[in-house]
Amino acid sequence: MSDVQTSIRRPCIVKVKGIPFPEFIVEKLDAVSGFCPDPSDLLIVSFPKSGTTWTQEIVDLLLHNGDAESARRAPIVKRQAFLESPSFLLKQSSLDLLKEMTPPRVIKTHLPLQLCPVGFWENKCKTIYVARNAKDTLVSFYHFRGMNKMGPEADSWENFIHKFMSGELVWGSWYDHVKGYWEVREERNILYLFYEDMKENPTREIKRIMNYLNLSLPDDIISRIAELTTFKNMKENPMVNYSFIPNHIFDQSISTFIRKGEVGDWKNHFTPEQSAKFDEDYEKKMKHVNIPFRTQI
Ligand code: A3P
Repeated sequence: MSDVQTSIRRPCIVKVKGIPFPEFIVEKLDAVSGFCPDPSDLLIVSFPKSGTTWTQEIVDLLLHNGDAESARRAPIVKRQAFLESPSFLLKQSSLDLLKEMTPPRVIKTHLPLQLCPVGFWENKCKTIYVARNAKDTLVSFYHFRGMNKMGPEADSWENFIHKFMSGELVWGSWYDHVKGYWEVREERNILYLFYEDMKENPTREIKRIMNYLNLSLPDDIISRIAELTTFKNMKENPMVNYSFIPNHIFDQSISTFIRKGEVGDWKNHFTPEQSAKFDEDYEKKMKHVNIPFRTQI
């Protein structure tokens, strides 16, 4: 085993305003909270494993007229700053990277609404929120947890479900996350996207993003963007499949970052009992909002 591998240590988990984060994210949150974006900056927000990278790549291609070469200019983490990025993803702080970029910049965050820098709302930045149904998000997160050596130690499947339901996973409660942004989407002009809609009709959703960004691209370019961002093409694209992160950090022999890309994979994981218990709890937590999630298409 090399020195680098032996130096990897699982992070302590620390709560900020009740939300658990790895310690190396907590260290960044003060600076991040004071970040002042340019009004032209675009924010892409999601709970982890909701299709963020997919949305990021679509946005990058839209902003570069569907040009595949432009989108391959650098790994996605260099093209679009991950606001609370740990230093193992980026060899510099995201705030330093942002200083090197000229607005309009595209910025990604997984922060829940209450921790998202207020500067984005004060400056009326455009914001895309991408949401995915709870069960598939949980499954994707579970597999990611297995391969991410910089995250908390992997849990049993049963424990992982429990932690998801009780908001104990890093970045906190999925339920509060999706509800928080849903409730302010109109007043803050947030484009609220669903992973399932993107799977069902990528062209339609790419056009929705294009319109939101006030762009106007011909249909052949939209088709090209849809083709460049298929699951298969993204899985093979080293600029988005996170193969740029060393294997001792993201061990893609355990699970690939771009893993399965399906709606309904939860059916291959949940037992009928686990599913029933999850649904009962879901109804209670989500009863006051009517977010049209779909667990199959
Ligand atoms: P699975 O683990 O279910 O396959 P994020 O980027 O937010 O971390 O989300 C990762 C999830 O999005 C993974 O889900 C990944 O496979 C899926 N994904 C990435 N690119 C995709 C694409 N082009 N089409 C469908 N799903 C995609």
